[in-house]
Amino acid sequence: MIFLTGGHGLLGTELRKLRDYIAPEEHEMDITDLPKVIEVVKSANPSAIYHCAAYTNVTAAETDWKRCYEVNAIGTHNMVEAAKAVGAVFIYMSTDYVFDGDQEPGGPGYKPDDIPHPINWYATTKLIGEVYTQAYPDYYIIRTSFKRSPWEHPKAVADMWTTADYVDVIAPLIDKTIGRIIEGKPLPGRIIHLGTPRKSILELARRRSPDIEAITRADVSVRLPVDTSLCCFEP
Ligand SMILES: NC(=O)c1ccc[n+]([C@@H]2O[C@H](COP(=O)([O-])OP(=O)(O)OC[C@H]3O[C@@H](n4cnc5c(N)ncnc54)[C@H](OP(=O)(O)O)[C@@H]3O)[C@@H](O)[C@H]2O)c1
Repeated sequence: MIFLTGGHGLLGTELRKLRDYIAPEEHEMDITDLPKVIEVVKSANPSAIYHCAAYTNVTAAETDWKRCYEVNAIGTHNMVEAAKAVGAVFIYMSTDYVFDGDQEPGGPGYKPDDIPHPINWYATTKLIGEVYTQAYPDYYIIRTSFKRSPWEHPKAVADMWTTADYVDVIAPLIDKTIGRIIEGKPLPGRIIHLGTPRKSILELARRRSPDIEAITRADVSVRLPVDTSLCCFEP
């Protein structure tokens, strides 16, 4: 059985439609509480852990930096310790935001071995989570990005590009990848990039909500990367 953290968030809710998981809620297991994490994971004794829980508010993370670090960095360290305790394969949910977005326009997109360079605090803490993950030999890192459907804001950024898609499109790609991991099928490496062809954020928003208003990155208070498009694996 696979143990899923963050199983009741945006992505986790979609993933649980596709496969059975042991998925405790935050009030049952706060990932920043190491003794609790070890106790809950030991009693579930999973063969794999898919760690999706995170502090995900990119704007709030700039001021609420300490809690963001506790959840994304220390929380991931704790989940790795739990994987060690039960000998489970550890799969970490990361983000295209580990890259600075300053890539060659029209290029192939970031490859898994390109050097990360996050430009905001949320992404920095997610990268620290990757580093903790890679200290454990039996690990995989999935980098992708996804949005709630329909578009949840009245506006969308026109001058940002992405291989992100709606969560109901990305979750099946993740599920297939998880399947490959647990069935021991070949994968391109331990870091896997998932997504759909490059488009602007505004274009993605208007696919399902045609009346969305265009804004630019300059209208948003947090620094956002221009083009975090990934060179993606097709699972
Ligand atoms: N959304 C994106 O565009 C995007 C892009 C790339 C990567 N990701 C990554 O994908 C994963 C899922 O993102 P999402 O958008 O589905 O996030 P989300 O909707 O905010 O869900 C996050 C989940 O983490 C849980 N959580 C937060 N703090 C916790 C703690 N201390 N202990 C235990 N659980 C805790 C939350 O529980 P509560 O709801 O009970 O607080 C929630 O279930 C994250 O790792 C995120 O970094 C997201």
